[in-house]
Amino acid sequence: MAVLPIRLFGDPVLTTPAEPVTTFDAELRRLVRNLDQTLYDQRGSGLAAPQVGVGLRVFAFHDEDVAGHLVNPVLDFPDPEEQDGPEGCLSIPGFYFDTKRRMNVVAKGFTADGDPVQVAGAGHLARCLQHEIDHLDGVLF
Ligand code: NI
Repeated sequence: MAVLPIRLFGDPVLTTPAEPVTTFDAELRRLVRNLDQTLYDQRGSGLAAPQVGVGLRVFAFHDEDVAGHLVNPVLDFPDPEEQDGPEGCLSIPGFYFDTKRRMNVVAKGFTADGDPVQVAGAGHLARCLQHEIDHLDGVLF
């Protein structure tokens, strides 16, 4: 495992939509382990593959007692409730932006082994999941 350098605002990889994962292999599992370790090292809530220079639809998240990763995620919104509040990003260190998000989400995707998985998130975790999936679309806030 390795702690990877994080790409910062201005790097074109951050504004390029990431490609879907098509091969669930050892390289993908290594990417997920490195995302996990880098996220832990940075004490962050989420880290998307483009933030370490890899243009694939993968991210890791860590919210209090819930941690994991998703490959090729899609979002469902179970209700229209919204939240508004400050949001940070490891690629824009030290800055927080008031960002309106949905309050409740269900993120569906796959594990690095290719098994279907879904994560239901409310509040901060919902905000994190929306932020990370924005990264996969090349969107920063
Ligand atoms: Ni971010």
